[in-house]
Amino acid sequence: MLAMKILGIESSCDETAAAVVEDGYRLLSNVVHSQIDIHSQYGGVVPEVAARSHIEMINPVIAKALEDAACGWDDIDAIAVTYAPGLVGSLLVGTLAARTLAVAKQIPLVAVHHVEGHVYANFITEVGDSPTLEALRSQLPSTTPRFPILALIVSGGHTQLVLFKNHGDYELLGQTQDDAVGEAYDKVAKIIGLPYPGGPAIDQISVSGDSMAYDLPKAKLQGQFDFSFSGLKTAVLRTAQKIVDKDYTFPSHHLPELLNDKQRADIAASFQRVAIESLIDKTLVAYDEYFPSSVVIAGGVAANQELRRQLRVRLPIAIEYAPMKLCTDNATMIAALGFYMFKAGKIANPYNLEVVPSLSMTKTTWALTDQV
Ligand code: KG4
Ligand code: ZN
Repeated sequence: MLAMKILGIESSCDETAAAVVEDGYRLLSNVVHSQIDIHSQYGGVVPEVAARSHIEMINPVIAKALEDAACGWDDIDAIAVTYAPGLVGSLLVGTLAARTLAVAKQIPLVAVHHVEGHVYANFITEVGDSPTLEALRSQLPSTTPRFPILALIVSGGHTQLVLFKNHGDYELLGQTQDDAVGEAYDKVAKIIGLPYPGGPAIDQISVSGDSMAYDLPKAKLQGQFDFSFSGLKTAVLRTAQKIVDKDYTFPSHHLPELLNDKQRADIAASFQRVAIESLIDKTLVAYDEYFPSSVVIAGGVAANQELRRQLRVRLPIAIEYAPMKLCTDNATMIAALGFYMFKAGKIANPYNLEVVPSLSMTKTTWALTDQV
């Protein structure tokens, strides 16, 4: 059978991305235009600015993805686009581009849930000939994950444990009751004066910090697989205020100028120790309960070095990781999941596909996109 090529398009937050993936596992191109430089001056993503940048970048990014993959429109079997969840203005740019192209080029459209997509970064095991992909080749997992798959999804907007019994057949085991873990990384980074996005900055600075320097609380929750990070974030704020001899009324934006480098690194390392312990504790409980054949980590925080190191030590089975570049937002994961949805006949209507900014990842996601 001829290989099937899916063009993925992703614009749900602050990355404009397009990619071509063959048969759900062979990556032919991966183009990501990050807006980090634009948003870092504001300390976080500004939705209107993000949407405007997507409008400027979407066409060139798609053109480059086709060019890198050495594809014409005739080679593309389906267009997979992120339609939920995310920032409404950002989502609209990608979906409108995908809908227009699907109609103009007469190519089937597939509507993909962004968070579910993150899991499929782990399904990429080969790259094509494009020189732009060469660096990824040695970082790819050797095999695709096997069902049942336990997925720990950790991003800027989500923290959840999901059990995949098959493609499109999954169960949400637990999730954060307040902040996502990536959000906590970003907020803690802001408190101690590190740049946006905070995750990579904390990851880096923690290496030189003492992770036992400060005693921070681990949340205790009712739900066996649920998470909570807002108490930890507040504890970091109070700790930082105490270190510089101020009370709880002291404004957080003045803290960075009073903390020295050692204090900053110690706070980062202590926060990271507790955050990662909470993630792994729950993952281990889920592992013992369900005995999955594979465990995968997905989302931006999956790029974290210490999380990977700790999982290697504590989890009874070996985990293969997606390259860091495919952990943060990209369209490769959207195209990979799009392949399985397309094969299952989950085709969206290009004339009326709507974005859904706050759709949670539930069993009904595939049903929702079955629109024609
Ligand atoms: O998945 P993602 O790219 O976007 C969302 O869908 O949210 O995740 C972004 C999040 C940000 O909160 C960022 O700080 C975090 O992932 N992140 C990290 C690392 N790299 C990115 N967190 C911890 N360690 C990292 N190395
Ligand atoms: Zn994401």
